[in-house]
Formats: sequence, structure tokens, C-alpha cells
Amino acid sequence: MSPAIGGTLNRVDGRFKVRGESRYSAEVPVTNLARAVIVNAKIASGRITAIDTSEAERAEGVLAVLTHLNLGRVATVPRLLPSLAGLAAPGQTFFPMQDDLVHYGGQPVAVVVADTSERADHAGTLIRIEYETTPATTLLDQARDRAYVPERIFGGLLPGHASRGDVAKALAEAEVCVDATYRFAPNHHNPIEPSASTAVWEDVDRLTVYDSTQGPNAVQFTLAELLGLPPISIRVVSHAVGGSFGSKAMVWHHPALAALAARHVGRPVRLVLSREQMFTSCGHREEQEQQITLGARADGRITALRHHKLSLTSPFDDWAEPSLQSPSVAYTSPHYEGVYHLVRGNTITPTFTRAPGEATGMFALECAMDELAERIGIDPLELRLRNYSATDPESGKPWSSSGLTECYQRAAELFGWRDRDPRPRSRRDGQWLIGTGMASALYPVTQPVNPQRARARLYNDGTAVVEAGVSEFGTGVFTAMTQVAADGLGIPVERVRFVGGSSDLPNVTAAVGSAGTSAVGSAVHLAATQLRDELIRRAVADDHSPLRDADPANVEVHDGKMVLRDRPDVGETYADLMHRTFAPDVEVLGTWNPPPQDVGYGVHTFGAQLAEVAVDADLGVVRVRRMVGVFAPGRVLNRKTAHSQLMGGMLWGLGQALLEATRMDPRLGRWANASLGDYLVPVNADAPDVVVDTIEVHDEVVNPLGMKGVGEIGVVGAAAAIANAVYHATGRRQYELPITLEKLL
Ligand code: MOS
Repeated sequence: MSPAIGGTLNRVDGRFKVRGESRYSAEVPVTNLARAVIVNAKIASGRITAIDTSEAERAEGVLAVLTHLNLGRVATVPRLLPSLAGLAAPGQTFFPMQDDLVHYGGQPVAVVVADTSERADHAGTLIRIEYETTPATTLLDQARDRAYVPERIFGGLLPGHASRGDVAKALAEAEVCVDATYRFAPNHHNPIEPSASTAVWEDVDRLTVYDSTQGPNAVQFTLAELLGLPPISIRVVSHAVGGSFGSKAMVWHHPALAALAARHVGRPVRLVLSREQMFTSCGHREEQEQQITLGARADGRITALRHHKLSLTSPFDDWAEPSLQSPSVAYTSPHYEGVYHLVRGNTITPTFTRAPGEATGMFALECAMDELAERIGIDPLELRLRNYSATDPESGKPWSSSGLTECYQRAAELFGWRDRDPRPRSRRDGQWLIGTGMASALYPVTQPVNPQRARARLYNDGTAVVEAGVSEFGTGVFTAMTQVAADGLGIPVERVRFVGGSSDLPNVTAAVGSAGTSAVGSAVHLAATQLRDELIRRAVADDHSPLRDADPANVEVHDGKMVLRDRPDVGETYADLMHRTFAPDVEVLGTWNPPPQDVGYGVHTFGAQLAEVAVDADLGVVRVRRMVGVFAPGRVLNRKTAHSQLMGGMLWGLGQALLEATRMDPRLGRWANASLGDYLVPVNADAPDVVVDTIEVHDEVVNPLGMKGVGEIGVVGAAAAIANAVYHATGRRQYELPITLEKLL
């Protein structure tokens, strides 16, 4: 029996998806269901001076119209804490409809409940609201002078500024200097499934919420605090989630609004966000600007890095995507300074968006590196190798594992980088200017804070159920967990069923920061191997077992049969032992305690990205022709799903480079392109020839299986490789994303 881990097992939920049988949270059958819709503020700042709901209340099918005047008050709004902490994780520390103030465009101001969603929608249009408008800040440019440096960001988990050495002195003494400012349009996640919550009260203190979320437990804890109920009163179920990318990582206001509405009307209530509402209800990647100053010696050795970031955050929270972590450790640089600057604006609190922070932070650094390579006159890949750091430059500790130089090498071979003529505009294919570019990819290995748990139960026919509270939002985590459990128990994958997606199951972190599969996988691995060891212990202690008195360390399991390592003909199956000993099932709980932050190693994920673009010499149209990404994500559980995630990440990078931008209309304080028709994402016709490869580095530090995660690293560096290729093709540096064609005319 070959190991399941590392194979290419098809998605265990694939069958249900293609048959249309996956139950998304807006589809779970519930009897006596009422529908709720949110009505959003049409101003970006001010207060409600009058609200007339009488006509809406009289409309056909309407059960209730809730506003700040009659909606139940929330008990506590918990502090903002990334959902990795395993506690309540609200997306912002403001809960709407508690008073008459409006802080951002699209803020909920009313909830209409009716017997159908169409009737609720219609009644929503009948509500008359008068506002008193106050001046709003919706763009960075409107309020640069009000920028401040926060003490901490990211729910308090990261410092607002950090430094080592004397960066000013080192920059003054540098032989070569690159100084550049990069601007980033806001981005939205746009999962195919809009967020939806279905709230069912069975009693005054017994609530089930079917919710599309990356973390059922995080929703449970958040609702408990908002509603003032103990966690035992709340069950959160997430059978299937249709994509997320960070929009469902934190807990936004809609599940609580659904619960409050359901309590108000005494019926189950389903609340589904519209596509347009997805742009104002679940955070976004904030508008930001990053300044990079690199100082180097004439041979390219970096001596100093200064990295400042300016973000537009909400009135409530000091939020910035953490963009400074990977750049601060990407290369040897004795002198460093990184500072976040924030401007408060009239927006919902921004949030995690795929490869949060590092997708933009590494873009800035890797474009500046390309300029540095050109200034010094060396190959961009050679510049990276000269500055490769074998230890974490921040702490001086060795990497738990790296693989970066192997990634560079493999990527260069797959791409054919060696033949590159470094001169810009040196290649042409008819109308098209051809260029190539590269970038390093780094992403922090985020560890959950709290212990991770999974339960494994073996039945006396040799099949097993393994459970943990993680939800499946398209990453393939249920499939990978099936493989981990099968190998841990020594049984084929067909005999394992993984069950997740409910807060009733053992608590695991929300699947965020590329840490979902490694967090739950570590718990599943421990549960499965402990269950195996329990069965072996029982066998060697049983008078009737052929393994009686054997050394447990000398017993291994193949295909459900426990055998002596050196005498594979001696042994018995789990099923035989359990039947003989009247055990219908055996169950254990596996608990993984993540290593402490200060573990004695630098812990990071690495990769290399290369891209070839063609730019129309007259029209400025950019087509990406080829992308090669090679990554070292530690242990790869499933080559198929891991490579799919990495490829998806690279295409996100393509979108970030060329297409994705949410445009704010500052006169109205509203997003001008809040639809999938107007917000551009890459489609198949945009997708080039994408080559993905992985280098499996061994890592004993991060977790029992040595997984570092594949959720984000594929995005990082992809946009920089494309922008650098655009420069190589055209001779024009790009400092603003996305690179739209008018910037190349
Ligand atoms: Mo991920 S963007 O950390 O949900």
C-alpha cells in the first residue's frame, strides 16, 4: 500500500459538486423560512435624521422592517483579532444599526424580513431615509496630512514599526540607491458564492446558523459575544463554501443580523448578500502606497532597506495588511526600517485578501530589486543569489527550512532564463514587444495560537471517521485530511471519511493565512496515529492476538493489518481484534500544540516566479505568455490540489498585476464598479501557459508533517515578475497596480 500523502487523490467532495449536491449555506433546506435583505446607506458619512418604514411594512409578504430604532442591541462587540487566535474574530469593532450614525457607504441601515427575497427586496426600496451628510474621506489623497503611525496593527498582533541597525546612515553611505513609491488600487475577493447566513432558533437560547465561513468556531464565538449567549447556545454549520479568499476569514455583521432578525420574527431567516453588497460587507484589500528605499554596494550587496506603507483604514480599527514581514527577511540587510502609516477614512475595516500584505509588500520590494539589478548591471536572478540569506536576517536564527536557491534554479531551468538578453526592448515578435521578468516569493508561516484538535474513530469493520471543525471553501482540505488520516491509521483512503464544517466538532482555527491545512492536518495526524497506537497497544496485550507481547515499536500497519515490522506474516487486522474483543469502535482525540513563536528558527515559505509578457507596441495591451512558479512549501499532501492552489495563486497575481481594481467614486463615497461585470478578474482567455512545480523541503520545526502551506505563496511575486517583464519588454517602469493599457501608451 503506497502512502496517500503526496499522491494526487481527487477531491472527495468533487462528486457532490458536479452533481449539484453540495449544500451551500443559502441552500440548506429549512422549513418555514423567511428571507431577509439588508438595506445599505447611500452616503459615506453623516447621520440618519428621519426614517419612514410605514410603506415598506405594509408591502405584501413583509414580516418586519428593522432599523436602528427597533433592532435588538448587541451585547458586546469583541475586539478585532485575526481568526487564527481561535476566539471571537469580528471583521471590525463596529456593529451597524445600533445608532443613527453612518460611517461608510454601504453600511447596513435597515433589514427587511419577508416571506420571499423578492418581496423583501422590493419592500427595501420603499423605506424612506433622510440623511444629514458630513464630509467623507474615501481616498488616500484626500487625507495624507492626517496620517499617523499606529502602535500596533492587525488586531494588535504586529508592531506598527520596526527597525534594526541605522538605516539613515547606511543609506547615506550606500554606493547605489533605489528609491521608489508603488501604489495599489483596492482589491475585492469576489468569491463565486456570496456570503449567506441562515439563522434557526430552536428555543430562546438555542441557535443554529448555516454560514459561509472559513471558520465555524470563529463564527460561534463571535455570535456568542454579540448576542450575549454562551457558546453552548450556538451551533455554526458550513457544509460547503464557494470560495472565500479572505472575505469569509473574519466574522462580519450579516450572521448576527440574520440571528437578530430571526429572533424578532420568530421564524428561521435566511440572509444572502447580493454581489454588490459583497463589496461593502466583508472588507477588502485597502488602497495603499508603499515606498521602498534600497541601499547597496556596487557589487549588489544590500546594506539598507527602508519600507514605509500608507493605508486607508476605517474609522474604527488600525488595520493594514501586514506587508512588511516578508520583505524584512527576504535578503541580508543589516540596516532596516519598516513603518506602517494609516489614514482614517469612511470605509468598512479592510481585511485579509489572498496573500494578505505580502502580495503588495513583495511587489514593491521585488520591483525595486529589478531596478537595482539594472543599475548595477547584473542579472536579476544573480542579484537575488548575492543577497540570499541563509539565516533569518531579523533574528539571526537559521531557517527551519528554505529551498529558495533550489526554487530559483529549477524555475530558471524550466523557463530557460539563462539565455536572457537584459536590455529592455531587445525582443520583438511582430507587433509585440517581448519581455521576461522574475521575482522571489516569500510568505510567513503563520501558526495558530491555540491547540488544534481532531477526533478519529475506527469502527470494527476497519473504516474510520475523522472530524474537525474546519470548513471546506475550495482548497481541498477535506481531501488532504482524508489522506493524512489514511496514512496515520495505515488504511486505504476509501475507508476514511473526513467530516468537518461544524462548530460542534473539535475546535480548529479558521483556515486563514495559509495555515488551515497545516493546523488541522497536524491534529488529524496526531489523532490518527494515536488511534493506531491504541489499537496496537490492545493487540500486544491480548492473549488471543498473534501480536501478543510484541514490542509496539516493532508493529506497523498496512492496509488495516497490524504486523511485525520484521515478520510481516505475523499479525491481525484492526477488524479481527475489535470483533474478538467486543469493541464496536475506538475513538481518540488528537491535540496539536503549535510551537511557540520564539522557536529558535526563522520560519518562512519560499519560492521563485518567472514570467514572459508580450506588449502591443502601439496599443499597450499586455498579454502574459508564460508563467513559471516553483515553490518550497514543505510537505505536499496532495500534488493535485496543492498545484491547483499554487496555480490559482499565480493567476491571482496576474489579476493583481493587470486587471483587479475597485474604483472609489469620491463624490458618492461608493465603489463605482461593484459587480463582476465591471471588476475585472482573469478568465481562461487571460490565462497563459502556467508551469507549477514544488521542491519538497524537509521541515521538522513547523509541525509534525512538516507542512508550510500553499494558500498564498503562489500569489506572492507573480505580479512583480509580470511588472518586471513589462519593463523588460517596453523600457517603462510601472509603479501602480493594476498596469492598465493607458499606462503603456
Ligand atoms: Mo486568507 S486571505 O488569510 O483568508
